[in-house]
Amino acid sequence: MNRAEAKKRIEALAAEIHEHDHRYYALDRPSISDAEYDRRFRELQALEEEYPDLRPPASPTLRVGGAMRTAFKKAPHLRPMLSLDSLMSEDGVREFDARVRKALGRDEGLFAGQVDYVAEPKFDGLSIELVYEDGVFLRGTTRGDGEVGEDVTENLRTIRAVPLRLSPEGPAGGREGTLAVRGEALMPIAEFQALNTRLIQANEEPFASARNSAAGTVRQLDPAITASRRLDFFAYEVMRADRFEPRTQREMLEALRAWGFHVEQEIRLCESIDEALAFHAALLERRDQLAYEVDGAVVKVDRTDWQGRLGVRSRSPRWAVAYKFPPRIEVTKLLDIVVQVGRTGKLTPVAVLQPVDVAGVTVSRATLHNQDELDRKDVRIGDTVRIRRAGDVIPEVVEVITERRSRGAKAFTLPSECPVCGGEVVREGAYHRCSNGLACPAQLGGRIVHFVSRGAMDITGLGDKTVKQLQEKGLVKNLADIYAITPIDLAGLEGFAEKSIENLINAIETSKKPRLHRFLFALGIEHVGETVARLLADHYGALEPLTTASEEELQEIRGIGPEVAASVRAFFSSSRNRKVLDRLLKAGIRPTHEKKAKGAQPLAGEIVVFTGSLEAMSRPEAQHKAEAAGARTAAGVSRKVTLVVAGPGAGTKLEEARKLGIPVIAEHEFLKRIGEA
Ligand code: IVH
Repeated sequence: MNRAEAKKRIEALAAEIHEHDHRYYALDRPSISDAEYDRRFRELQALEEEYPDLRPPASPTLRVGGAMRTAFKKAPHLRPMLSLDSLMSEDGVREFDARVRKALGRDEGLFAGQVDYVAEPKFDGLSIELVYEDGVFLRGTTRGDGEVGEDVTENLRTIRAVPLRLSPEGPAGGREGTLAVRGEALMPIAEFQALNTRLIQANEEPFASARNSAAGTVRQLDPAITASRRLDFFAYEVMRADRFEPRTQREMLEALRAWGFHVEQEIRLCESIDEALAFHAALLERRDQLAYEVDGAVVKVDRTDWQGRLGVRSRSPRWAVAYKFPPRIEVTKLLDIVVQVGRTGKLTPVAVLQPVDVAGVTVSRATLHNQDELDRKDVRIGDTVRIRRAGDVIPEVVEVITERRSRGAKAFTLPSECPVCGGEVVREGAYHRCSNGLACPAQLGGRIVHFVSRGAMDITGLGDKTVKQLQEKGLVKNLADIYAITPIDLAGLEGFAEKSIENLINAIETSKKPRLHRFLFALGIEHVGETVARLLADHYGALEPLTTASEEELQEIRGIGPEVAASVRAFFSSSRNRKVLDRLLKAGIRPTHEKKAKGAQPLAGEIVVFTGSLEAMSRPEAQHKAEAAGARTAAGVSRKVTLVVAGPGAGTKLEEARKLGIPVIAEHEFLKRIGEA
């Protein structure tokens, strides 16, 4: 390619990538897969490296982060960044409405009796000002003291949801002169959890909340680190525009979306304060299902001329308030610390708490993760602690309130013997592990429960309690023993009658022809979850070659790293595991694998949500099938979603989908579409 051709190609790629960013974030209608996006991105990067002087000033590659810095410059805001009055009660919000009406009513002719409000989620992230000059991103700053913030431009450039150039689809006025936009930089909850896991593994301090991790990431001195953590950015206010005067809050949000900003879809125009209160209640209900932390609803007067009339107090507007959710963090007493032994033998210290209501859920136990975490936080029995419950995650102890520590508070150390079997406990990195393997009833029990679970061998009727009884009676000493269970064995157990015995024996029998990836997942090999199991199954197509694969060979598979490879190798090298495996095969287990025709992607471009119960497959399996068919999957229904698969018992998600006009299909129809009916 010569220089002129390179120039053309660079411009075309840059324009195309801008377009895809816009489609992805602003329009919620991506038209290419992430992999295709990455391919274009890398091509552009390579070309720009070859011809550095041809790089456009707003090139999307500027997002990957420049050089390391030592400190941030201070930068004054174009307009003061106000904060909002926080309200904790419905009454407070009604009083706000009364104040608004009274103030507007005083100005003759302005007030016709109805005040429209816009209700939006209150994002729990980091408030940011973005400045554009003639439509090109110039500077981004943190809120700081509201007057002056820190210049974090380079870091903000790495966020894909921050447009580097405003789209011509938005009002032209905003692309002339100066435009200042306010919004919130956030870290999605899933990204936050993954990040913390990585930090803990690397012996680094984890973040206390998604908010803190967003703040820490935006204020990273090395933009390459910011780029590696996936932040999102939601825009919600035009702070200053030279040639754009929206008449309403809604018009402003629509303009932001059209310029290419990520604007929340869940924003509602409310014709009365009651509707705004209902929005708050409905959002609170769905709080655990949202992909990012929301700590309340913001209620704003819709008309901008009325906003102007109402004006601002010293630090907050009179036309908007935040109606907060109950806190996710509560204070309670730590009564005891007990130790749980998991199926891999890992010992987890668990805090036994004085039960406390945390944002609507009673919490009486919280994880302390491991000894290092326990030491780092210096948690002692008898302490008063702060606990947090975020989303569907297991509650955890965040910190000790040391001022309230009593003299009797006792430190805790994990035992050197397994509390379940008395086996020796060995330390591996941050974790303590019982070394007794499947001779430890806790490990064996956990392994069996996992082995028979949905998504694994799927033996219904074999729950925790039955497994425990079978273990206690000495009937199941390893996984293969499941296939030696007789009706007479079961007749001796609590809760079994003729019919349930027959059902369980049948379920055990039908489980003998598992799909290979399910079987691999069922074995409980460390680091082999459903995704890795599928990679292995797709690569080898059968069990036998996998059992002898070397670490090097395993690592050649895309998506398999050294840790997984070592763990798979170790599993199949253990003579104890090989014996169990042989016995399983002797018992008649025949894992099978069907190769998928490559290239067939009947659901390409779709974003699918599953809701209600599924009959032919487990939820993770369904998601996997959808992804294999080219779709992306999502946990919650939003406008982004293009297809909802609903089973019996589907509730709010189904309603949402209907409201938004998203096509809804049943499980069998889904299977038909992916060619598996
Ligand atoms: S509007 C003048 N809308 O909540 C009005 N703020 O003190 C400016 N926040 O620091 C704020 N979500 O960063 C607005 N949808 C939303 C918001 C929001 C989160 C933050 C904002 C501010 C804090 C309230």
